Amino acid sequence: MRTIEWNKGLVTTIDQTKLPQEEIILKIKTLNEMVEAIKNMRVRGAPLLGASAAYGLALTVFNSRVSNREALIEELKSAGKTLKATRPTAVNLFWAIDRILEKIQEANKTLEEIKEQVIQEAQKIADEDVKANRAIGKHGAELINDGDVILTHCNAGALATVEYGTALGVIRAAWEQGKKIKVIATETRPLLQGARLTVYELKRDGIPVKLITDSMAGFVIQKKMINKVVVGADRIVKDAIINKIGTFSLAVIANEYNVPFYIAAPKSTFDLSKKSQDITIEERKPEEVTHFRSQLVAASGVEVFNPAFDITPYKYVSGIIYEDGVFFKKDFETFGINTFTDKK
Ligand code: MRU
Repeated sequence: MRTIEWNKGLVTTIDQTKLPQEEIILKIKTLNEMVEAIKNMRVRGAPLLGASAAYGLALTVFNSRVSNREALIEELKSAGKTLKATRPTAVNLFWAIDRILEKIQEANKTLEEIKEQVIQEAQKIADEDVKANRAIGKHGAELINDGDVILTHCNAGALATVEYGTALGVIRAAWEQGKKIKVIATETRPLLQGARLTVYELKRDGIPVKLITDSMAGFVIQKKMINKVVVGADRIVKDAIINKIGTFSLAVIANEYNVPFYIAAPKSTFDLSKKSQDITIEERKPEEVTHFRSQLVAASGVEVFNPAFDITPYKYVSGIIYEDGVFFKKDFETFGINTFTDKK
């Protein structure tokens, strides 16, 4: 299942806000439509945000009417700025835009060459993500034993990437190897990416999955109902992993009960020159918490705090599964990671 595709100026993807009830294919033809899709989370998940932003630039050149290279470069820079203002936390979005904008700066490129280069680079970013996820799956599956019950949070599946998934890529690869595993998925309040998307993906693949509410996870870990946690990441910085809100509490509880806690993410999610304090944690609108599918479920007028991500220091992380292998706790320092937050 490929989540996003480019075909001559048309980006097709699935509208994730409508899943699992409706499988609606979105046809995105302009930069503005892509910006809307990202802001409203029709497309979401760090690697898919990277590919979507890249295709946003591809749409910009495809639809451009300017007649010289300088004007095209200006148009692309402005599109990059608009795309960067959609969602602040997942680094993949920024990484993809900067990668394309750097590529086109070379001198002597004609207008047509730049257009072609942007489209090609966007395709490359998407294709590389598929390869990375397959490799993450392969490396991660080595950590999974027959009979494991794995807890995952949010959706780090095919829907969060271009194909296959990161955390769900590990689960899929283990399953494809014939390991009889089971998954426990958290619903992932407030937007229910776990209940709506992860469960949808795993059921399609026939991988046994049980759904719990977020607040049940502690009890499930304490009762030894799971023996591994595998989640994705939105940004891997020097002192911590930034991922969907709720990841941090899962990591602390898993650590307390000696349950291995793994992060699965491609290199496009790494941002090791930054620390967690430098990163904007997205805060989304109160209605996501006070309402359920436009019905008010909280006392009217209540003040809300709705951060979409949280910060998990490395001391709670057992390993990072990425496309080149697995970095275990003992390797973190050589990887450019500070295991303790107080180190410079
Ligand atoms: O707000 P979302 O749905 O975009 O958040 C997604 C997550 O937090 C995922 O766990 C993360 O992006 C990893 S996806 C492979």
